[in-house]
Amino acid sequence: MKTRLFTMLAAVLLSVSAFAQNFDHEVTQPAPGGNTPDGGPQAVSNITSVAGVPLVRLNNGVMMPRFGLGTQVQSLEGPNQRQILNETVNGMVISALQSGYRHLDDAMFYYNERGTGWGILESGVPREEIWVTSKISGNLADAQNAFNGMLERLQVDYIDLVYIHHPAGTLTDILACWRVMEDEYKAGRIRALGISNFDNRMEAFNYILQNAEIKPQIAQIECHPLAQRTDARPLYADNYDMQVECWYPLNHNRNDVNNPTLQQIAQAHGKTVYQIILRWHIQEGLCPVPGSTNPAHILENISIFDFDLSAEEMEAIRGIDMGDAGRSFNLQYGNWGFGNFVDYEYEHTYTPSAVTENEDINTDIEPVRIFTVNGKQVNTLQNGINIILMSDGTVKKVVVFK
Ligand SMILES: NC(=O)c1ccc[n+]([C@@H]2O[C@H](COP(=O)([O-])OP(=O)(O)OC[C@H]3O[C@@H](n4cnc5c(N)ncnc54)[C@H](OP(=O)(O)O)[C@@H]3O)[C@@H](O)[C@H]2O)c1
Repeated sequence: MKTRLFTMLAAVLLSVSAFAQNFDHEVTQPAPGGNTPDGGPQAVSNITSVAGVPLVRLNNGVMMPRFGLGTQVQSLEGPNQRQILNETVNGMVISALQSGYRHLDDAMFYYNERGTGWGILESGVPREEIWVTSKISGNLADAQNAFNGMLERLQVDYIDLVYIHHPAGTLTDILACWRVMEDEYKAGRIRALGISNFDNRMEAFNYILQNAEIKPQIAQIECHPLAQRTDARPLYADNYDMQVECWYPLNHNRNDVNNPTLQQIAQAHGKTVYQIILRWHIQEGLCPVPGSTNPAHILENISIFDFDLSAEEMEAIRGIDMGDAGRSFNLQYGNWGFGNFVDYEYEHTYTPSAVTENEDINTDIEPVRIFTVNGKQVNTLQNGINIILMSDGTVKKVVVFK
């Protein structure tokens, strides 16, 4: 009994401290949109917590959902294949947004920004509620042109987070790209700046940190239970107050999911091993961006905010870390580039999510986005309609998006 009480207390303290860690720090960077009269996109953005996803306040004061959808699908070449790729990503984005995701992780070199843009428009979720991320390659000759293309393909007039995707190219090229991002940040077309894979080229990391006028808010690295990156994480989080975001959070469906420790914990909670891995990320203060093309997996992956891993379980998971040996992709970057960006024109028929007028509309009801039906948490927006269990036990449908 005592052990159980202790475990419960530890779990509560753990979640409280994870919360405090996210919100209780000083803002160290100027807010975006400093050059604009209306304060830039920070003023128009309306990021809120949906489906239980915690928000983190970044070192520039901007709030970001600390869980997202990875949109990278195997690269396909040629116009027909790319059409399929973009249609696939369109479907993933609609599924994710309707399952409660409000954070999308994209990149120009995923060649799928158009599919993401179609999905945002068709989902019925207002753009301002969505954290849209893309990545630009640091070695591009014309970073400004590349950024303008990202806005056009995503069909947005600002991007919440832009990363330098890889520290490839000369240090001068990388800094020139950063300067373009800083200008866009000041103009209010970017809300947060990020570096991705800079842990694999520390000279580029140091060069940006020494020369940047606007310091990065976020670092994206490979991170999952078999490669927990215990060196890289504190470098960013403790020294520079940057949020760590994790790519391959499920290790691309490789070794982590077969690990017996993770499988045992999954069984104890009646959850899948995928959910245990993602819950571990959340309780470690990390931001995972799992990818999936399967709507059932997309919903499963976000359904991790109704249970806690105990302190002992977190410790057991920390024990399976293999360090760099557990990494899937460990590229040494240098003075070389990623080739040219080639895109195509695609056909697309827009099918906005159907919004059904419903006699149960009650405008007094807050448009709450976390709701329960018959004791089961439901994250899915059904054709733009939220279903809310009222305190008197009745179920109300509320049309949120028109
Ligand atoms: N910055 C960088 O350089 C970089 C590098 C790599 C990736 N990334 C980002 O990280 C994101 C995630 O990476 P990733 O998608 O390659 O790897 P991942 O999220 O670690 O794993 C995705 C794989 O797991 C499967 N999966 C997901 N959820 C599942 C579930 N509940 N049950 C069973 N299988 C499941 C998916 O298959 P199904 O489709 O069948 O569900 C897919 O094969 C990318 O999309 C991208 O945004 C960034």
